[in-house]
Amino acid sequence: MKLNVAILPGDGVGPEVTKEAEKILNLVAEKFGHKLDSSTGLIGGSAIDETGTALPDNTLDICRKSDAILFGAVGGPKWDSASANTRPEDGILAIRKELGLFANIRPVKAYDSLTHSSPLKEERLSGVDMVIVRELTGGLYFAEPKKRWTDKSGRQAVDTLLYSEEEIFRIMNVAFELATTRKLKVTSVDKFNVLETGRLWREVANEVSSNYPNIHLEHMLVDNAAMQLVRAPANFDVIVSENTFGDILSDEASVLTGSMGMLPSASLSGSIGDSSALHTASLYEPIHGSAPDIQGMGVANPIAAILSVAMMVRYSFGLQQEANAIELAVQSTLDHQYRTPDLATDNSVVVSTSEMGNQIASRINNDN
Ligand code: IPM
Ligand code: MN
Repeated sequence: MKLNVAILPGDGVGPEVTKEAEKILNLVAEKFGHKLDSSTGLIGGSAIDETGTALPDNTLDICRKSDAILFGAVGGPKWDSASANTRPEDGILAIRKELGLFANIRPVKAYDSLTHSSPLKEERLSGVDMVIVRELTGGLYFAEPKKRWTDKSGRQAVDTLLYSEEEIFRIMNVAFELATTRKLKVTSVDKFNVLETGRLWREVANEVSSNYPNIHLEHMLVDNAAMQLVRAPANFDVIVSENTFGDILSDEASVLTGSMGMLPSASLSGSIGDSSALHTASLYEPIHGSAPDIQGMGVANPIAAILSVAMMVRYSFGLQQEANAIELAVQSTLDHQYRTPDLATDNSVVVSTSEMGNQIASRINNDN
């Protein structure tokens, strides 16, 4: 099979972890007889430095011509000035919007061998296996008005929380479809008691739920959800939420697994496995961001990026065996106590970013 992939390393630790992910993608292609055709594009702060824009036309072109996109991270203090009119983050936000990638899938699974790296007690972690389905192209991130101005009361700013029923319907469908392949439960997160959008969100969730009699729908206020995620995380199966809530809750949930450096994600334009949704490339990225404080030190955890490749080959190319091989190799590497510093505990073998990539690669080569 031909794997036509765009690679966008970006800023901070993005290039370091993407390099390891690319190593794994190359290896899997070679081992299983696929032809990898990859092109690299600029995005984020490094693109601003070179071209003046966070998403150059050429990068968008490369993405449109590819079947899948592997993205690293964007951002850093160098580009953080409040007055800047272009920000690195605009690059990833624009790709999501341009390609219609409205469904962000963030699986959170606790690995047995990492329970000591998690800030939560071991007994709370047992059975943690959830997926956060985050709406990705609406809400506070995109709706207008979105601006800043000064008048006689001083500086003011506005962001708009707007959702159409259509936007809520389609993300609910993704969540319910996903739940049919899992533990048959959807937790819809909103702020129903205060926000109009929360009330519409809940209404549409109930409507979609009537098409899925086998799925148990539960509604949860976002503040309560933040608490339940640390109190009883194993109770969740599929969580569906609007853009900003999903951003916050997925960072919170990521530390259950021991480190943010563990969590991959997929951004899709439809349900998982819905081939009509593959008319645009899907995008795969670690959720951790650019981590400028550890940039260039060789200590970033590449596992989230590597697991993003597993999601890519499974969802965009339908390659189950290849995805399993990557996931098993990650698990086996962790079982052998190899850890980047973010996960290290007393008896760990602490390794660098590239050594972690090599350990995982060697296990794919040797069938674990
Ligand atoms: C994420 C990131 C992005 C977001 C940033 C980099 C714009 O935090 O993917 O979660 O807020 O969506
Ligand atoms: Mn985030």
